[in-house]
Parts: sequence; structure tokens; C-alpha cells
Amino acid sequence: MVQAYVFDVYGTLFDVHSVRTDVERFYPGKGKHLSTIWREKQIHYSFLRQIMGRYHSFYDVTRDALRFAANAVEVPLTPKLEQQLMEAYLHLPPFEESAPVLTALKNKGKQTIVFSNGSVNMLRPLLQNSGLDTFIDVTLSVDERKQYKPSPAAYNLILEHTDLKREQILFASSNGWDISGAESFGFQTAWINRNGQPQEELQLSPDHEYEDLSFLPEIP
Ligand code: LAC
Repeated sequence: MVQAYVFDVYGTLFDVHSVRTDVERFYPGKGKHLSTIWREKQIHYSFLRQIMGRYHSFYDVTRDALRFAANAVEVPLTPKLEQQLMEAYLHLPPFEESAPVLTALKNKGKQTIVFSNGSVNMLRPLLQNSGLDTFIDVTLSVDERKQYKPSPAAYNLILEHTDLKREQILFASSNGWDISGAESFGFQTAWINRNGQPQEELQLSPDHEYEDLSFLPEIP
């Protein structure tokens, strides 16, 4: 039986693509292109830093990815604009079902945990600004170990903070690579496939696949 539900943050509880609107405001006509490169590079840089053993916080990684994206689409990024766009990450909108699902899980007596590559200085304000913090028992950042997901050392942090066994934990993420990592580590997994993506070809199938978070409270 699942005792604890662990949630990834960006793209899973919060809509990361909303930054497109902020980017569009500063760079008309470039919002989609720049924000797509920004997100891709953010993930890519966290993987590269993990492989190279050159950890920098996810805040720095996100800022560096923004700098790359601005260069790639050839727009000027002043320190002030950079600061304003980074602020967008602290005010992302939660998906509409995020709060009701967390409430339902709490009502069923389940433990709710947030676990993210995001650094604490990004996660705390985001959870507080959205009000989701009231439904979350534990907030964990890989920053505590300086090991990015999908490395096993990152997922192990969850075990270090609970008395649960891997199979008692349901890990939910919209990121295919994150689901592969969690499945490989031995958690039960629910892939929140919001955009109808094909499954990763890593021979690590998720235990559950849903379009959004709504069905999680029905898992026994
Ligand atoms: C997270 C990002 C990477 O860990 O989705 O929250």
C-alpha cells in the first residue's frame, strides 16, 4: 500500500511553460522559442553538471540556461531583465488539480512530499506564493546532497527523510526522465504525461500513466 506520495515540482505541480507569457512581454514574438530553449537547457545543464561532478544550484543552472536561451534567440538580457524573468520561477501557477489532489491525499491520511532539483530558495517562495505549502508535509531539495535527479543518490534523500521502504512510496512526475530514474531506484511511479509524449525507451516503464494528477488518490 502506498504510504507517501512524492511530487516533482516543475511541470508536475506547477506549470513551467507559463513563463512564456513573461518572456513574451519583454521580447514580443520570442516567448515560445526562448522559453522552450530555456527549459531544455535548464534540464540539460543539470544533467551535464551531474555527469561532470560540477554541481551548481538549480537557481544558477536556471539562470545560466536563461542566458544561453537569450543568446540563442539573439535578444539582449540586461541584469534587470534577467532578475525579472528569474522572479517568474517564484510565481509559477499550480495546475488546477494540484491543490484538490493534495487535499484528497491528506484526507486519506497519506504523507505528501515535494522532491525537486529546485533549490530551497526557489521552492520555498514558490510553494508559499501558491498556497500549496499548507498541503505538503515535507519539502526536499536535491541541494541537500548536491546530486541531481536522476542519480540514485538524489532519490535516496527521500528514504533518509522517512521510515518508509521504496515500494511504499509513489513517485509522481511529468518528466519521463525523472520517472525512469525513480522507477530504476525502486519507487512505484506515476507518469503524469500531460502532453501525450511517447514513453522513454529505457526499459523502465512507469507503473501508472495519467494525463494529470487527478487519479492519484485512487491508487490503493
Ligand atoms: C524538478 C524539475 C527538474 O525536479 O522538474 O522539480
